[in-house]
Amino acid sequence: TATPEIRRGLAGVVADTTAISTVVQDTNSLTYRGYPVHELAAHRTFEEVAHLLWHGELPDATQLRDLQARERALRPLDRTTAELLAGLPRTCHPMDVLRTAVSLFGAEDPTEDDGSPAAHRAKSLTLLAKLPTVVAAEQRRRRGLAPIPPHPDLGYAENFFHMCFGTVPDADLVRCFEISLVLYAEHSFNASTFTARVVTSTRSDLYSAVTAAIGALKGPLHGGANEAVMHMLDEIGDPGRAAEWLDAALAAKRRIMGFGHRVYRHGDSRVPFMQAALDRLVARAADPEASRLATLHAALRQAVLTRKGIHPNLDYPAGLAYHLMGFDTPTFTPIFVMSRITGWTAHITEQLAHNALIRPLASYAGPGQRAVPATAG
Ligand code: CMC
Repeated sequence: TATPEIRRGLAGVVADTTAISTVVQDTNSLTYRGYPVHELAAHRTFEEVAHLLWHGELPDATQLRDLQARERALRPLDRTTAELLAGLPRTCHPMDVLRTAVSLFGAEDPTEDDGSPAAHRAKSLTLLAKLPTVVAAEQRRRRGLAPIPPHPDLGYAENFFHMCFGTVPDADLVRCFEISLVLYAEHSFNASTFTARVVTSTRSDLYSAVTAAIGALKGPLHGGANEAVMHMLDEIGDPGRAAEWLDAALAAKRRIMGFGHRVYRHGDSRVPFMQAALDRLVARAADPEASRLATLHAALRQAVLTRKGIHPNLDYPAGLAYHLMGFDTPTFTPIFVMSRITGWTAHITEQLAHNALIRPLASYAGPGQRAVPATAG
């Protein structure tokens, strides 16, 4: 028999169709439901993009008002959930807290999961609304601070800053954050989305799929890279050391975090828009520390391109941008979750609409068949 072709990491394998997003290779752009993501990031709010991903169209004024009102009402955590999460060890990673939170939301949801799109949309909105409350409480808990309850009069992005810091920064900074949420929202069959689809394909529930997706996103080869970028910049320290550090890291066969991409070979289409937001943050900060980090960031980017010909991915500018917005490094990947929850849940609904159990084959490479010895000796 012919040896089956193996595509390790499913590289280049087309696993199904999707109508949610695609990378247009010719123009090196990403579209959500046909709209270029950079245009959405420039002109639309994250709530509008959530509606687009879930329903296929941008909301009209009434639909947007409805989504905003329901999202704002769903933000608070119930007391038991808040207490259970506050009781987790303070040393655990916020992604572990978030994964546990979604698991708890699933256990507490009294509604029947009938697998209908309407039921899924209600659960998706619940997660969209509650995840920032968990992330903000965690950003504060790690600093020994009490949580700040959500503010029902503030938009999604503003409310997150309010819950983290007790203040809302000016509109330009909030806009930079919102751009990152729009750019992070969806990216076709990436590892965490595919994980959510695998779980859904067994007809398991939405919370189980999202819990698994959070686990997949946590890894440094995926969403965990935005935190790893900051750790790497901290490790290098001096911009003058970037090239020398890179040579040593490459010699040690280390992966350079925030660089490379499975789908984009000539640069991640989202990077220029996030980089522009980062440049704005650096300019507004106007302090020596922000300038040092920006110089180091640019020097490393140039060195990686020169030495390896590898371009940065979205996590590279996003990591430093979140630092300059005042978030602690362990909050970066949870922010990615707050955004990607929209893409995950859109894919969960799509998977169910034309479900096929996801169950590939493996080419066996273990020992040939053999007899079990009669005794342990
Ligand atoms: N640092 C050093 N070498 C790299 C990197 C990198 N970041 N990315 C790719 N390469 C090299 C790799 O070593 C390999 O070289 P060789 O053929 O000599 O062994 C070649 O480029 C091809 O790499 P690959 O591993 O076959 O490519 P892949 O498609 O499996 O990997 C990736 C994609 C994202 C896992 C990888 O680029 C990587 O590890 N990047 C660092 C982690 C990171 O930034 N992840 C975020 C991904 S994008 C946004 C997101 O999901 O959050």
